[in-house]
Amino acid sequence: MTHPIVSSDTGVEYLKLPPPMRDGGMPLLGALQHRRSTRTFAPASLDDVILSTLLWAAFGINRPDTGQRTAPSARNWQEIDLYLAMPDGLYVLEPVDWRLRLVVGEDLRAATGLQDYVGSAPLNIVYVSRLSKLDETDKPLRQFYTALDTGFISQNVYLFCAAFGLATVARGLLDRRALARAMRLDADQRVVLAQSVGHAA
Ligand SMILES: Cc1cc2nc3c(=O)[nH]c(=O)nc-3n(C[C@H](O)[C@H](O)[C@H](O)COP(=O)(O)O)c2cc1C
Repeated sequence: MTHPIVSSDTGVEYLKLPPPMRDGGMPLLGALQHRRSTRTFAPASLDDVILSTLLWAAFGINRPDTGQRTAPSARNWQEIDLYLAMPDGLYVLEPVDWRLRLVVGEDLRAATGLQDYVGSAPLNIVYVSRLSKLDETDKPLRQFYTALDTGFISQNVYLFCAAFGLATVARGLLDRRALARAMRLDADQRVVLAQSVGHAA
């Protein structure tokens, strides 16, 4: 990201995202043909417009009248937040204002996984569930639904990466507790999955 950090009056820092592209990329059947997991990343960061479009494809708002999103979620809970570990800090996507809020001003990329390649990817997305949004009483069912909801978003990222020639891999091999601490998550949040994104090396 090269966009300047905009500080609000409250001291919270944001990166304003440019508008996402509304067309482009490979047609769907070609993207499905190219979808794969890639585990080697070049250091180059993602272009701002590509990052914005990736995030919109992942879980952006595609129906502004209702606030509904590009991925489905059980009972429209929309309980998954996208945290982005990038070289200059950890951000969380704010889909309504279409901006990233700075959460930790440190490079946490290597802390988002247990495999060596993780720290070299320019972007690591961490999918975090906000438990209080799941108004389902049965705990195993809540976990099941939130895992499913994450999977839809992750597949959107896979297909976007295939369509735009980017490298990505979903990652479940995580130390979720240590990662939640490093990310300063609160007691109502759970790390579900991570996904590295970048240019193939
Ligand atoms: C839920 C989930 C968790 C995964 N966790 C990891 C992981 O921790 N590390 C990793 O290198 N790959 C991980 N993968 C990627 C799989 O290993 C990969 O999808 C599988 O080998 C098939 O390869 P393909 O995606 O290229 O078809 C994960 C995939 C999924 C769907």
